[in-house]
Amino acid sequence: MLAKTPPMGFNTWNTFGTNISDAMIRETADAMVSTGLSAAGYEYLVIDDCWSEYDRDPKTDRIVPHKEKFPNGMKTVADYVHSKGLKFGMYSCAGVRTCADYPGSFDHEYTDAETFADWGVDFLKYDYCFRPDTENGPMLYRKMGMALRACGRDILYSACNWGSDDVWSWIRSTGAQMYRSTGDINDSFESFKNIALSQISKLGTSAPYCFNDVDMLTVGMYGKGNVGAKGCDDTDYKTQFALWCMFSAPLMVGCDIRSISPAALALLTNKELIAIDQDIEGRPAFIVTEHPWNRDCKVLAKHLGGNELALMFVNLSEGDAKVPFYFSDLGMPASAGYGLTMKNIFTGEVTDEKRDYIAPAVKKHDCVVYRCKFIKK
Ligand code: GLA
Repeated sequence: MLAKTPPMGFNTWNTFGTNISDAMIRETADAMVSTGLSAAGYEYLVIDDCWSEYDRDPKTDRIVPHKEKFPNGMKTVADYVHSKGLKFGMYSCAGVRTCADYPGSFDHEYTDAETFADWGVDFLKYDYCFRPDTENGPMLYRKMGMALRACGRDILYSACNWGSDDVWSWIRSTGAQMYRSTGDINDSFESFKNIALSQISKLGTSAPYCFNDVDMLTVGMYGKGNVGAKGCDDTDYKTQFALWCMFSAPLMVGCDIRSISPAALALLTNKELIAIDQDIEGRPAFIVTEHPWNRDCKVLAKHLGGNELALMFVNLSEGDAKVPFYFSDLGMPASAGYGLTMKNIFTGEVTDEKRDYIAPAVKKHDCVVYRCKFIKK
């Protein structure tokens, strides 16, 4: 069974867009191993849109790899990715055309699933552009879900309908293992802040075997690439990554791994954050306390396996602040007789807190994340 914990990997779209090729994929596969990203859990190497010829083969009706970008076809690329101990992902669309105007899988679902299986594909991202208005969205996702299950290969199904058609209410029924819940991210603080805030109250249906996908990470892009926008600094990236981990979101790296910065690499391989993301119970984060007049300062909590707890104090505002936290909002006032042992996962510092209230100082755009255990004093 796939996706017991949130899928982790790399996707070409954020940095490369249409500039993908056989060589670039092989170099990325090498870099996923040499940087230690694969050892940290990032296993899927996914080629997004723009990998095919403009039209299907008129004789076979199959999608054909772009002759200049992938002159040796996709099977050899998949074989190379597999030889590195990684898994290989590709992209198609529920509509007639993909979002970048290449052939989509509409009315070709079973043939395309077979083609992907023949090539050794392990992951399919399935987009939602150019869908005929007469077609029913949930049915189109169910159809490809059936085709993937019928094709004889385990292919992780990554649905991408941007949260439309009330996706939360039906997506698990399609067999998808992850589902995009928002429009596209770009590499700016505002973009990931809006995405995160839009999903905090919608994580209830995100659970093992089917996770809410808040889009590929922009960590390490620094404004370069296909969705570069303004770019972010390392503090912003720290907060982006920590939010994604608190959400148990799929972790798909979007920067150029071949030239990743040491800071971005250290963040993306942070064992404590990844452990929160990959926690076996996959429980949703929820808002515990908000700053009374600066609502962009929040405390999020997430229950973890083994009766542990993650707490994130996040300052999404434009000024430094003390972020308040009432233990009673967690259901545990000091009068309960219990407190928390709180380990700051960035500094390693451990404190025992049995109180009603704390308010750590958090700089703008920054966050503090604690891994907590219960104590009785
Ligand atoms: C949509 C998706 C993106 C990306 C592009 C490719 O916009 O949401 O993640 O796959 O299509 O064209």
